[in-house]
Amino acid sequence: MNDKPLLSVKNLQKYFVTERTFWGKPKEYYKAVDGVSFDIYKGETLGLVGESGCGKSTTGRTIMGLYPATGGDVFLNGEKLSGITPKIQMIFQDPYACLNPRMTVAEIIAEPLVINKAYDNAQELQKRIFKLLELVGLSREQANRFPHEFSGGQRQRVGIARALALNPDVIICDEPISALDVSIQAQVVNLLSDLQKELSLTYLFIAHDLAMVRYISDRVAVMNKGRIVEIAEAEELYKNPQHPYTKNLLSAIPVPDPDFKK
Ligand SMILES: Nc1ncnc2c1ncn2[C@@H]1O[C@H](COP(=O)(O)OP(=O)(O)OP(=O)(O)O)[C@@H](O)[C@H]1O
Ligand SMILES: [Mg+2]
Repeated sequence: MNDKPLLSVKNLQKYFVTERTFWGKPKEYYKAVDGVSFDIYKGETLGLVGESGCGKSTTGRTIMGLYPATGGDVFLNGEKLSGITPKIQMIFQDPYACLNPRMTVAEIIAEPLVINKAYDNAQELQKRIFKLLELVGLSREQANRFPHEFSGGQRQRVGIARALALNPDVIICDEPISALDVSIQAQVVNLLSDLQKELSLTYLFIAHDLAMVRYISDRVAVMNKGRIVEIAEAEELYKNPQHPYTKNLLSAIPVPDPDFKK
């Protein structure tokens, strides 16, 4: 592992205005992300867990630049980010909601390449689309189909291919499997894991499912009410949680590991 982090999040804040004065001036705020800091190293997966509403997605979206930060900074390779960059991509929870139903799979995957003019000619673009389909385990014949013709797992593969299109450094996976059938969750996790090895990707993996996060993450950050309360090596966190909130979170899930039972 390198000694310099690939992604560095420093004291990130995202406050949402919840109430305004009659004149439209912000009056009250909700502190969805309230001073979050962590580093992610190249090739690493950092899990981000916490109860619903604790600010996980907001953290991801603010890092991406989808939301302007209220405070704090994000550095990628030591460079301060401002706004959206193709170097950070996101995989979303609901692969159906985020794929345009009127576009073919090829068009969906091509879109980021087209927007960023990341190819020289039509032939090169087609080659890249075929390569991306192959990477995520879809066939060329499926390129001209529409999202509704795919299963949930296949749609998530399309979402992954699209996220990979611009060779990002970091992929933020926001509950990428929680909308899928249990039977295909492992397939998608394995795909993400294989792609990580093949393309030396770096993941921020947001999830509810603590067992899955443990399986895929090198380190895990536990979030509560907009803050990180604990961050540790995955095994260490599960074996020896330090923060009461983490202990609580762990006690809420059935753990198959007999070492856990007191
Ligand atoms: N655009 C928004 N405007 C106002 N409040 C928001 C907005 N987005 C999120 N929030 C609030 O910020 C808090 C954190 O939301 P967020 O979606 O980040 O939680 P989460 O940890 O991802 O939850 P879940 O596990 O349910 O996905 C919530 O209380 C939510 O209501
Ligand atoms: Mg969320």
